[in-house]
Amino acid sequence: MSQANLSLSSGARCALPKELRKLLQPLIDRAQALQMPIYMVGGGVRDLLLNRPPEDVDVVVEGIATPLAKSAAREYKAKLVSHPQFLTHSLIFRNGRHLDIATARTETYAEPAALPVVEPASLQEDLYRRDFSINAVALSLNPGDFGHIWDPFGGVEDLQQKKIRVLHAESFKDDPTRIFRAARFAGRFGSELEWRTREWLSECIAQQLPSRLSGARLREELIPLLMEKDPRPAFRLLAQWSALTFLVPNLKWEKSHELFFGQLIRSRTKGDPLMMRLLVLVHAIPSPKAVGSLEHLMFPEAMIQQIEQALHVLACLRNGTLTPKEAQATQRRPMSGEVKTFLEKAMRIKAIVPKKEPVEQWQRLQDSAPCLSGRDIRDLGYKPGPVFTRIFDALRQARWEGKLRTREEEIRFLMLAFPLNGS
Ligand code: CTP
Repeated sequence: MSQANLSLSSGARCALPKELRKLLQPLIDRAQALQMPIYMVGGGVRDLLLNRPPEDVDVVVEGIATPLAKSAAREYKAKLVSHPQFLTHSLIFRNGRHLDIATARTETYAEPAALPVVEPASLQEDLYRRDFSINAVALSLNPGDFGHIWDPFGGVEDLQQKKIRVLHAESFKDDPTRIFRAARFAGRFGSELEWRTREWLSECIAQQLPSRLSGARLREELIPLLMEKDPRPAFRLLAQWSALTFLVPNLKWEKSHELFFGQLIRSRTKGDPLMMRLLVLVHAIPSPKAVGSLEHLMFPEAMIQQIEQALHVLACLRNGTLTPKEAQATQRRPMSGEVKTFLEKAMRIKAIVPKKEPVEQWQRLQDSAPCLSGRDIRDLGYKPGPVFTRIFDALRQARWEGKLRTREEEIRFLMLAFPLNGS
């Protein structure tokens, strides 16, 4: 954390990195032409104050942002996605980065956890509707006071003192997703919750308000939690607050999570990181329950199927129920790289697999994958069709029994068991 930057107080200035300035300049010029006060806001400003590169950039203007967003989309040749009911617009660049342009606004919530009704407002009101003081800071992009930090709620000081603080008593009730955000920021920055914030958070949990959130909204919180550089501190906090099961019922934070996530963070693992981390999160939940939870969160079907397969194989290995028939069935559905890596790593963690036998069984399952591919078998003269399933089952069975090791042995076995003129 940069001490130089953190000596900033309200009224100080903050320089924009060159690249960011270059990115924003066309937007700033257009806002000026339209005589609209324009500010960078939220997490991006917080990150600049911490000397961290901002992930995505959020900009607000005082006044209706629509004409500015439309003309900026043309200028940047970016895709424009607008949410008129929330007065927000997203420019999506070819490299996948986002630039959000919104009308400064107030939010009112008809009931806890409902989506807000928004109305145009001043910058100050826009900052007041935000989650935490550290995210309620703005950086002026206007010619008169470019770089000036607007910090009406003491966000800079909270950043300095590592405090997470909501701006009013209704904050968590209005938007219970802020519980998960509080854990994420506290975990990321090593911050503590200010005492009233902690009390309001506990009240919201005691009233079970997060259970009113839709599966899709919960998923949008779970993904960034999992994708934190080190997700463990945030999950520890959620477990401590009894808030973990709102995300995934039946989830308990265990020693195996600490070890597994620790391993994952230290090693450079290939494949889809979200898939790997989701697998680690649900590794101790029985497969049908984990599947039900992930369906509720509306994760894609293909991801859920992989997780189901991984948890099923893990359970078979741990319970010693990986019969040859089960092994066959398991191998008929190809295992993704992520599932294989997950199982390999799980097998090496004693808190998950305390005995030696499952590790040996896993090795045996791995070794029973035939050397020959479908193409090899076709090249040997077999016609693709139901016989291929029989051939692969037989190859796997023979390998599982330790009768075959090499490619040559497999070919010899095939010629005898499935004579070509008889196939
Ligand atoms: N925000 C909020 N309440 C929410 C979500 C977002 O007040 N439930 C506001 C905050 O001011 C936040 C900004 O919208 O800084 C942008 O949201 P998001 O991109 O989700 O948060 P970041 O703070 O940028 O988080 P990260 O660093 O993880 O990207």
